[in-house]
Amino acid sequence: MNILVVGGGAREHAICNAVKNSNNIQLFSVMSNINPGIKELCKDFYQEKETNIKKIVNYAKSKKIDIVIIGPEAPLEIGIVNELNNVGIGACSPTKEAARIETDKEWMRNLLKKYNIPGQLECKTFTDVEKARIFIEKLNCEVALKPIGLTGGKGVRVSGDHFDNINEALIYVKQVIENSIGGESKILIEEKAIGEEFTLQAFSDGNTILPLPAVQDHKRLLPEDKGPNTGGMGSYSCENGLLPFLSKSEYEEGAAILQKIVESLNKEGCKYIGPIYGQFMLTTDGPKIIEINARFGDPEAMNVLPLLESDFIDICKSMIDGNLNTKKLKLKKKSTVCKYVVPEGYGFKSMIGEDIFVDEEGIKSTGSILFYASVNKDNNLVKTTSSRSLAVVGISETLNNAENICEKALEYIKGDHIFIRHDIGKSHLIQKRINHMIELRGM
Ligand code: AMP
Ligand code: GLY
Repeated sequence: MNILVVGGGAREHAICNAVKNSNNIQLFSVMSNINPGIKELCKDFYQEKETNIKKIVNYAKSKKIDIVIIGPEAPLEIGIVNELNNVGIGACSPTKEAARIETDKEWMRNLLKKYNIPGQLECKTFTDVEKARIFIEKLNCEVALKPIGLTGGKGVRVSGDHFDNINEALIYVKQVIENSIGGESKILIEEKAIGEEFTLQAFSDGNTILPLPAVQDHKRLLPEDKGPNTGGMGSYSCENGLLPFLSKSEYEEGAAILQKIVESLNKEGCKYIGPIYGQFMLTTDGPKIIEINARFGDPEAMNVLPLLESDFIDICKSMIDGNLNTKKLKLKKKSTVCKYVVPEGYGFKSMIGEDIFVDEEGIKSTGSILFYASVNKDNNLVKTTSSRSLAVVGISETLNNAENICEKALEYIKGDHIFIRHDIGKSHLIQKRINHMIELRGM
């Protein structure tokens, strides 16, 4: 079978690795920046913007591609899957209608309301700053402010983290409405959920979902969760599929929410095929929905895909054919810790073109996995770009060991201008999360 993966980040490197574990596969790639890891794995690649869907469809036709897997959200929003399906090529990702669950936050919230799905937050959209003021005051200024459309994960502002009073909140409300940030002269204002965040990803064929282990991402740039939000600095998962602060029943509540969302999309006439991603806040009142994404998470894909013992392409085929109910997921019962290496200045002004020395063999010797992200590689020299550079994932029986292994592997990566959040997966940070939930529950 010929498989095409669209996207050139570390998430897509992890997807390509999973594809290559299947038998009788030829891998092809479309990426805007050449990912050295993906380049090594694929039979052929096409350097093109991931949103240039006409060219991608033509490339897929010319290479007789059987299944396309799309990594990032931008091509989903503009209907890459619809175009592929129109020419008879299967895709293991949602159509533009189904991907609205991520690309249109107002539509997503309305869908939750219409189908009475659990885990909702009080929320409303506004085009008028004065009306927004009344709503924010009603919620005691404990709110999250969100542009309606895609902003590359950088559009959300949360009280306490990004602003402290109503006037500061309204400055951002005005900015979003006046400049149509996220594509519309509108803003979504949500009640702020308080607790610990977790990610739950699942495979979906439009009817059945197969949930994957829960993961905790770290969006903040600096140790101890300080600094601005980023695309994600690293993440961890545990051998039992849960998290140190997340019980089995809370995990199941999250999975049931994803199942209900898939069912409601089906009722709306937009069957959801592909991986679905739920970002939840575990509150004292159970998991609340923060966002739903129409793809794997980055970095969360790197925690779960290496654990797959089931054949990934077989699952992809089942998602497309609609027989996921006949499958059972087989996963390694191991913990994972993923840490991103980013250029110094990332989140503000990245240092571009700086050397990173990557000893691939050394990393392999620790048992960790290396995933390249956004780097340029010339004559064996890896150089930073403005985005995250590469990620290392440690895998072991326990979280503690996985973290140790990840750190050992990171010693094989050197550079004068790189930055890593070393605290991710360390026991003191995990304990902080546990204590936070205990404190909230008043135990
Ligand atoms: P998003 O881009 O929607 O993932 O939002 C970025 C981050 O903002 C999330 O990971 C949360 O930490 C935070 N956030 C978003 N919405 C809320 C909310 N309603 N309550 C509390 N925090 C939120
Ligand atoms: N880890 C957050 C995301 O993929 O959107």
